[in-house]
Amino acid sequence: MSESPEKKIDTLVEDLNHHLYLYYILSKPEISDAEYDRRYKELEKLETEYPEFKRSDSPTTRVGAPPLDAFESQEHRIPMLSLDNAMNAEELEAFYDRVERFLEKEADYKEAFTFCSEYKFDGVAVSLHYENGEFVRALTRGDGMRGEVITENIKTLRSVPLRLKEIAPPFLEVRGEVLFRKDDFEEFNRKRAEQGEEAFANPRNAASGSLRQLDSSITAKRPLYFYGYGIGAHEGADLPGTHYELMQLISKAGFLVSPLLEKTHDKKELVKVYQKSEQRRESLPFEVDGVVIKLNDLRLSDVLGLKQRSPRYAIAAKFAAAEENTRLLDIKIQVGRTGALTPVAVLEPVQVGGVTVSRATLHNEDEITRKDIRIGDTVVVRRQGDVIPAVVAPVSSLRDGTEKVYIFPDTCPECGSKVVRPEGEAVARCPNLKCPAKMLQRIIHFASRNALDIEGLGTKVIQTLVEKDIICSFADLYRMKPEQISGLEGFGELSAKNLTEAITASKETSLARFIFALGIRHVGERTAKILAQHAGNIETFRTLSEDELLSLREIGPEIASAITSYLGDEEESELLTDLLSFGFTFESETSAGEGEKVLDGLTFVITGTLPDLSRNEAKDLVESAGGRVSSSVSKKTDYLLAGENAGSKLEKAQSAGVKIIDQGEFYELLGL
Ligand code: IVH
Repeated sequence: MSESPEKKIDTLVEDLNHHLYLYYILSKPEISDAEYDRRYKELEKLETEYPEFKRSDSPTTRVGAPPLDAFESQEHRIPMLSLDNAMNAEELEAFYDRVERFLEKEADYKEAFTFCSEYKFDGVAVSLHYENGEFVRALTRGDGMRGEVITENIKTLRSVPLRLKEIAPPFLEVRGEVLFRKDDFEEFNRKRAEQGEEAFANPRNAASGSLRQLDSSITAKRPLYFYGYGIGAHEGADLPGTHYELMQLISKAGFLVSPLLEKTHDKKELVKVYQKSEQRRESLPFEVDGVVIKLNDLRLSDVLGLKQRSPRYAIAAKFAAAEENTRLLDIKIQVGRTGALTPVAVLEPVQVGGVTVSRATLHNEDEITRKDIRIGDTVVVRRQGDVIPAVVAPVSSLRDGTEKVYIFPDTCPECGSKVVRPEGEAVARCPNLKCPAKMLQRIIHFASRNALDIEGLGTKVIQTLVEKDIICSFADLYRMKPEQISGLEGFGELSAKNLTEAITASKETSLARFIFALGIRHVGERTAKILAQHAGNIETFRTLSEDELLSLREIGPEIASAITSYLGDEEESELLTDLLSFGFTFESETSAGEGEKVLDGLTFVITGTLPDLSRNEAKDLVESAGGRVSSSVSKKTDYLLAGENAGSKLEKAQSAGVKIIDQGEFYELLGL
């Protein structure tokens, strides 16, 4: 007899939850994402057929619920307090002495003087409620007494178990922080900026903004993680006597906890842990702003009790701030490849989190206006890990009246041309084709790996060649003689010859790479591929009309108009003719109509490290089989090809129900 649907659903839910746990908590997946996806789809299908058997802890409940009109609020059974801070080793030692004095009278002196240290996450505090082991509710910290009910939002976090492992007391509140990991944050912000949306100042704001969504399907798309750091209210739970054991229990119950969890027995050791963990701070995947040090013995912690808003048994030993104040000396404009004018803050050098910062991004004109940043202002500068330093805000209370409102230039600082900023666009651009700054960036792009991939022609060399007036455009590269290069710094006769040979070799390329190399606005690699496939040769490409472009898949009005304005520009056209006069040969392009291919019409996203293929190689394979490669996961993605250390894209694909495959399955699709 075959298994009942109910049993099948039960088995699948447990199996999938187990694999989510292996993936998100232990980072040790045992099945491929494609296999996970297959089982997920099977569960989804069964649940649609037999909704009466759908379980509340089913992974399919994590995609978000209908939007709310407002959040309800609820009182915390036990207030969520804050912590006192120790800003340096002396203050930490003072805390130690304080606790010692308080506990002198207590027995069991040895255990009393064990402290447990863990990271202080720089995220958003939340409280999770479990009834009989089942996740039922989540609250924000709110004012510490009442929080907002954000159950549906929290349910979308894969690192929050919907059912506790190993324990199931009648009631248990797990407290912790929700955060954005640093790399996810960078990628997320980059995408927002690309789409003209306001960037988040830091991962904490991004986490907080994501949790505040009334529409939990938006939260579901954000790569949020939860880390547990303690227990709040509980009923009928058999809890251990020390904080260290409590953290082990939380971990066993299925949560992520601080990777630093260290017991220390004396003052010196404690200070050492604090100082050492500060050094490890940069290498962590998430932001921390200190360590939280808690008395290990929970009974004695109770004896120590609370002050007004904070407990006596714990302290937050803070690290040097990732934000510092400094003076904004000037604003410089950088001109990019497409002529985009980007404002860069010139700062009085300041140490931020251990690194000297003298420049920071200001994003664009609107950000300067919106934040009312003036030259001469004291500004808050922020950096952390790999995050690009940014000016967060001015400290307007410190103004003395000498600050100057910055007037964004209406001419290009490099070539003096009048800049253009079309209505509705955030970015002003220099329209001059011959602008040296713009051309420099265009040449760098032209020679780059995914464009013509000219070996030995990196940014530094190009800068020198432009500075020495050896080249003014990418066409000039093909006019260059080895003698012109061999005298330059870092070059000898042989290296000069190698470079000119590499340049000559670049004339044999694919039409797609060539179109991409031209650096036409909005024409990324994928669009270049589509254009090359459609046109088939460069002459046809040059005659494409707006209507024809609009008839192509994935080419919308914005891209079409950028291409036609490029093609219609007399100077660009002259430059292109000049370039082509050097005799490029293009590998034959497969035209879209040339017979069925295995991946025809399928869109792939590639993420993580594949065992044997570089991303470019995988991409070439997809494209030569008729598929497309996109850089971000959307509803239109057919497959996510995921390797090791896949990050937010994987999550996104999972929540969007995109099929996830590994390299082996990819080969199978290709029939290899
Ligand atoms: S324990 C009585 N442990 O820091 C408070 N808090 O100022 C007990 N935080 O908003 C909190 N990491 O959300 C604790 N490992 C950690 C923490 C941590 C971050 C936050 C917490 C609270 C703030 C306290």
